[in-house]
Amino acid sequence: MKLRHDAALTFDDVLLVPKRSPIRSRQAVNTRTQFSRNIALAIPIISSNMDTVTEAAMARAMARLGGLGVIHRFMTVERQAAEIRRVKRAEGFMVERPYNLPASATVQEARARMDEHHIGGLVVTGPQDEVLGLVTSRDVMFERNPNRPVLEVMTPRDRLVVVSEDATLETAREMLHQHRIEKLPVLDEHGRLRGLITAQDIARLEQWPNATKDERGRLRVAAAIGVRPSDMDRAVACVNAGADALVVDIAHGHSDNALDMVRALKQRFPQVDIIGGNVATAEGVRDMVEAGADAVKVGVGAGSICITRIVTGFGVPQLQAVLECAEAGRALGVPIIADGGIRASGDITKALAAGASTVMLGSLLAGTDEAPGASVVRNGQRYKVVRGMASLTANIDRQEIERGREVDPDDWEQVVPEGVEAMVPARGPVKDIVHQLVGGVRSGLSYAGAATIAELWDKAEFVPITAAGRAESGAHDVAMR
Ligand code: XMP
Repeated sequence: MKLRHDAALTFDDVLLVPKRSPIRSRQAVNTRTQFSRNIALAIPIISSNMDTVTEAAMARAMARLGGLGVIHRFMTVERQAAEIRRVKRAEGFMVERPYNLPASATVQEARARMDEHHIGGLVVTGPQDEVLGLVTSRDVMFERNPNRPVLEVMTPRDRLVVVSEDATLETAREMLHQHRIEKLPVLDEHGRLRGLITAQDIARLEQWPNATKDERGRLRVAAAIGVRPSDMDRAVACVNAGADALVVDIAHGHSDNALDMVRALKQRFPQVDIIGGNVATAEGVRDMVEAGADAVKVGVGAGSICITRIVTGFGVPQLQAVLECAEAGRALGVPIIADGGIRASGDITKALAAGASTVMLGSLLAGTDEAPGASVVRNGQRYKVVRGMASLTANIDRQEIERGREVDPDDWEQVVPEGVEAMVPARGPVKDIVHQLVGGVRSGLSYAGAATIAELWDKAEFVPITAAGRAESGAHDVAMR
C-alpha cells in the first residue's frame, strides 16, 4: 500500500494566474493543435464517443468547425460503418462513389433512393458503369406516373455537362456557374462514372474554412472500438468506411486488454492513428505509447455522468491526471486528450494549460441539435438525454444489440452500473456552443500572454484556491435574474 501525501487537484481547486500579454486581440490567438500524431485540428475540441453525443451529424458538425467527433460503438458494426460513411461523404470537392440508379429504375425508385440518402440527384448508369443521364428531385417531383422509367425523365448524357477526373476545384466551380447547374458528373475516358461534384459541396467548402479534412478534402472522423478480439472486425469495417482514427474505448485503459488492442490495431492499420485510453497516470501514457498509441485519452471517473469513483473507489482528480499524463506525453511526442469533467470554457483552458492538446466533451454537447435523440419538454423547458456508457440502460441496450434480442428484466440486476442517465437543457446548434467555448479559450490564452496552445503550456501558472476563492470566482452577492 502506498499513500500519496499531496492532495490531487482538479479544475475548481485552481485558477490560472494572469500574465503580461502581448496579445492585442483574441483573434491573434491561434487555437491550432494536434488530436494525434498525424491529425491536426483548428480547435482543441472533440465530441465524446457516447451514444447521446456523437453519431454522424455531430461528427460532421465538429469536423466542419475544426474539431473532431468520435462515433460511438454502441451500435452494430454495419451501422457504425454507415455513420462513418455519412461523414466522409458529407463534404469534399468530389463525391467519389456517388449513389446511382440502373437504367431500369422507375420514378418511384428514384424518389425512394433520394429520400433514403437525403440527396437531390442520382446518376443513371448502364451495366459497365457508363453514364446514361442524371435524374434530379425536380425531374420526379410532379411526375404523376410513379412507374415511369427514369430514362424518360432524366437529363440524357448528350445534354449533360460533365468533367473529367483531372478537373480542378476551380474548373468545376467555373462550369457549375457558367451552365447554372448544380451537379457535375465526373467521367473517365471511357465515359464511366467516377464521381460527382455538386454546387452545394463547393459552397460548403467555402463556408467552413477551418474544417478538419483528409488529404482528399473529406471531413475527418474517428471511430470508437472496444477491446475484445471480435472488435477487430469492427475496426476493419470502420477503416474501410474511411475512419481517420480509431479510439480504443475502455474505462480502464491501463489494462493488458486495452494495450493488446492498441498494439493489434497499430500493427493492422499502420496508416491510421490509434488513440489509447482512458488512463490517469504517466505510467499509463508510457505503456500506451509503447503499445503504439498516437494519442492518449486521459480521465478516469471525471465525467459528469460517471460514478466509477463511487462504485470502485478509483480515479485521479482530472487536472492532476492531465498534468502528470501530459508531462509523459510531451516527453514521448504524443498528444493528450483530456476527457471528462469539462463544464465551461475556463475548464478547457485549464486542461490545455495543464498540458492537454485537446479536450473531449460529453454532456456539454449532449443538449445540442446534432446530438442523437429527440428533446423532451419538462416543466416548460426542453431537455435532451445524456447517459453514461456504463449506465444501466446503456448496458442493457448494448447487450441487446450484441445478442439481437431483448434482455430479460430479471437479468438487469446483474449489471453493476458505473454511470448514470440524466438530462441536460436543449441548447440549439452545436456551432453556437463551440463558438462560445472557443471564444472563452482564446480569451484565456490572451490572459496567459500565449498566442498558441504550446505557448500556454510554457507560460501557464496555476494557483491553488480555497473555498473562499472559489465562492469569489462565480457571480456572488447579487440576486440572479
Ligand atoms: P463529460 O463530463 O464531458 O464526460 O460529460 C464525458 C466522458 O465521461 C466518460 N464516460 C463515463 N465514465 N462511466 C464513467 O465512469 C460512464 O458510464 C461513462 N460514460 C462516459 C467518457 O470518458 C466521456 O467521454
